[in-house]
Amino acid sequence: MNLKKDFPCLNQEIDGMPVVYLDSACMSLKPQCVIDKMVEYYTQYSGCGGRSAHKFSSRTTEEVAKARENISAFIGAKNPNQVIFTKNTTESINLVAKSFKFKPEDIVLTTDKEHNSNLIPWILMSKNKIAGYKKIESKTDGTFDIEKFKELMENEKNIKLVALNHVSNIDGYKNPVDDIIQIAHDNNAVVLLDGAQSIPHTKVDVEKSDIDFLAFSGHKMCGPTGTGVLYGKEELLNELNPFIVGGDTVETVDDDEITFLEIPEKFEAGLQDYAGIIGLGEAANYLSNIGMEKIEKYLNDLNLHLDEKIKQLENIKIIGPNDPKKRSGITNIVVEDINSHEIAVYLDEVKNIMVRDGAHCMHSWYNKTKTKASLRASLYLYNDKTDIDAYFDGLKEYIDLIKI
Ligand SMILES: Cc1ncc(COP(=O)(O)O)c(C=O)c1O
Repeated sequence: MNLKKDFPCLNQEIDGMPVVYLDSACMSLKPQCVIDKMVEYYTQYSGCGGRSAHKFSSRTTEEVAKARENISAFIGAKNPNQVIFTKNTTESINLVAKSFKFKPEDIVLTTDKEHNSNLIPWILMSKNKIAGYKKIESKTDGTFDIEKFKELMENEKNIKLVALNHVSNIDGYKNPVDDIIQIAHDNNAVVLLDGAQSIPHTKVDVEKSDIDFLAFSGHKMCGPTGTGVLYGKEELLNELNPFIVGGDTVETVDDDEITFLEIPEKFEAGLQDYAGIIGLGEAANYLSNIGMEKIEKYLNDLNLHLDEKIKQLENIKIIGPNDPKKRSGITNIVVEDINSHEIAVYLDEVKNIMVRDGAHCMHSWYNKTKTKASLRASLYLYNDKTDIDAYFDGLKEYIDLIKI
């Protein structure tokens, strides 16, 4: 794939050097077509959606409907109304956490490898005695323990919701969600999938996989910042209590009675980020036109190359499975005795190579495993082998410098 030309951020030099962007698990870059689509909204018909009778408003309404259809087709939903626009994955997960009709004896099951966005809502819920939460431990190589899960689901009858990541942001490992969903359903539990890392990298079909709820962010899939989605089965979305309420969520209101609109409006309160939503629809088209299967294969092959390079270095620990094919486009390392933040700053300042260091919003896992911090290179469809070679050379240079 040769897609750098589509991404304006990559077609520039900073301090006379090209840019190597390896932080896409945090935020992907945006292709020109997404930027153009947003500029089109702002320059041609920048009105509100769904309210006013004029041309700008009806065009906005039309474009938002198209974006909803694009996203719906992208994830294989039956009905576009099952796509609720939110700010990001975090808001989508909070929507379910705050609106699900829990009883105090209910339990939410998560894993020990959840992003803070899929952990803090459950901790708070438990502290407030709305329902309890439990975690299932991963195997020592970070993979999902399906036998332990099955046993737990069969023995613990109060698990009502299983909320877990599809692909991990620390090691790129893809959980066996089809099996997990099957087991959860056999035991009357609903599954909320955190698709923040999977949606940009792999084909997700909500119908085929029988997914109950799916949360994801637009900004990790070539879409605009501040955009996200909650998908849900219709009957489950209808069952949820309202979340953020206000304008455009109701049919009518009196002091003592509120009649809420159907989904998706029930959950989309106030004027929306129309430019963002419309841009997100375009991002889904961009990825679909390339093909998610092709993107996944490309990233796996690229990660293989990165893995081969990294394994040439001494005193490096790779987080997660040893097999790079199990780590999507992520290679997250700990370099013995070297502070990962210092490496990241060196790579950025001296080489324009952008990676991420720290605890990657998963403090609970870093604390539990006594891992101080790590250096994560995350790949996306605009990267190529030259980016990886540049990263490897920069990393090696810094390690050699420190050794002197
Ligand atoms: C697995 C996972 N879940 C949730 C999130 C939160 O996404 P957002 O910040 O877009 O809400 C992230 C972000 O990195 C993530 O990687």
